[in-house]
Amino acid sequence: MNVSDSERVATSLAAEGLELVEDELSADLVLINTCSVREKAEQKLYTRVGEVKLREGTKPVIGVMGCVAQLEGETLFKKINGIDFVLGTRAVGRVNEAIRKVLSDGPGYADLGEREADYDWSVADAQRHSRSVAFVPIIEGCNKFCTYCIVPFSRGRETSLPASEIIRQVLELKRNGVKEVHLIGQNVNSYRPLTESGLEGFKGSSPFSRLLRAVAATGIERIKFNTSFPRDFNADIVEAIEENENLCNWVHLPVQSGSNKVLKDMRRLHTVESYKKKIDRIKASPRNIALTTDIIVGFPGETIEDFEQTMGLFEYSEYATAYIFKYSPRPDTPAYAMRDDVSPEEKTRRFLELERVQKQLQAKHLEGYIGRTVSVLAEKRSAKSPSDLSGHSTCHRVVNFPGSDGMLGSIVDVRITQAKANSLYGEVV
Ligand code: 5AD
Ligand code: SF4
Repeated sequence: MNVSDSERVATSLAAEGLELVEDELSADLVLINTCSVREKAEQKLYTRVGEVKLREGTKPVIGVMGCVAQLEGETLFKKINGIDFVLGTRAVGRVNEAIRKVLSDGPGYADLGEREADYDWSVADAQRHSRSVAFVPIIEGCNKFCTYCIVPFSRGRETSLPASEIIRQVLELKRNGVKEVHLIGQNVNSYRPLTESGLEGFKGSSPFSRLLRAVAATGIERIKFNTSFPRDFNADIVEAIEENENLCNWVHLPVQSGSNKVLKDMRRLHTVESYKKKIDRIKASPRNIALTTDIIVGFPGETIEDFEQTMGLFEYSEYATAYIFKYSPRPDTPAYAMRDDVSPEEKTRRFLELERVQKQLQAKHLEGYIGRTVSVLAEKRSAKSPSDLSGHSTCHRVVNFPGSDGMLGSIVDVRITQAKANSLYGEVV
């Protein structure tokens, strides 16, 4: 979401004649996009602002956007010296106005207001992180209030974009040569637009599965979506994938814990049993869907037994990839009031143990690809080996292979010859 926000802000700035520079030292404006979901983001911001201020020559205008901007607002001016303006998560459409205000009235301008009704969600081709892959936000905010999470506070309530607008964007991206769109949002499958516009004629048991079918009908080559909320994940989503080849075979379904007691304290609204039923359906699909997850270790009150249940769930689920996090207390969330009783050393121990289990499962999973042919979108030159190209399979695995510049932006069949720790290697066939 933050990359997508940055792309849209860069689009607004470019419309006013500002250009992104490679070298930060020559920038007239430095805009820092912050995320405080897990990190000590304020400290990082303090350090970054300090670094920018230390540079020689005239000081650039410094703006802050993202979670920290929304949560701290004007107090940031007092806490960190040198910040000129603060833009809340829904105020990014007014970035040019903020700059004008600072240039005319001086530093100290904050806008934490709501999104404008006619906010333009699209990104100019030149500002996209990739020529062939594009993010398309479909829902912003979150109503779930998991007890550890800052997002409902930093991003506000769930608001869905009209399907007609999403389809318009996808069609335009397709015309401009984009091969893969990612429908993004904190909980994409909680998608609930205010109007039917764009969904007419598309069946499905939820607005999200109808949207998937509508986006599939645009004929764009690949569609991925994340993140899905387990409680709202229904079998019809898998059916939509099975009906449409361009809906990719990857589902990111964060479980967060394998213990019902911890899940209840996290207020995740699913149980281990209900989650397993959903993944059983995903795994039974002939589309061979890759399943990925997020997990938090060391949540307040997590005992060794709870943690062992998480390890058991990993063995059961055989995730293609798991993003493991150590619990980090976020001020003002309900869990902040709970006793953070798992020591930092124990959190690290559980993290490493789960990582070890996941690595073994993942190695088995990756080895299973050897000899198979997967369809890969050639996205860029590999950073490690200049003669190789790098891209993702439909199941969202990183795949590297020898290739020429001419292949960039196209979808190629790659026969897998090697499994690395986190990626696959092969040859175009
Ligand atoms: N501590 C640790 N991990 C967290 N996440 C969200 N909030 C916290 C927190 N306070 C993780 C969850 C979520 C992912 C985006 O970040 O696993 O799915
Ligand atoms: Fe945070 Fe829970 Fe919302 Fe995800 S669903 S963004 S973890 S509150």
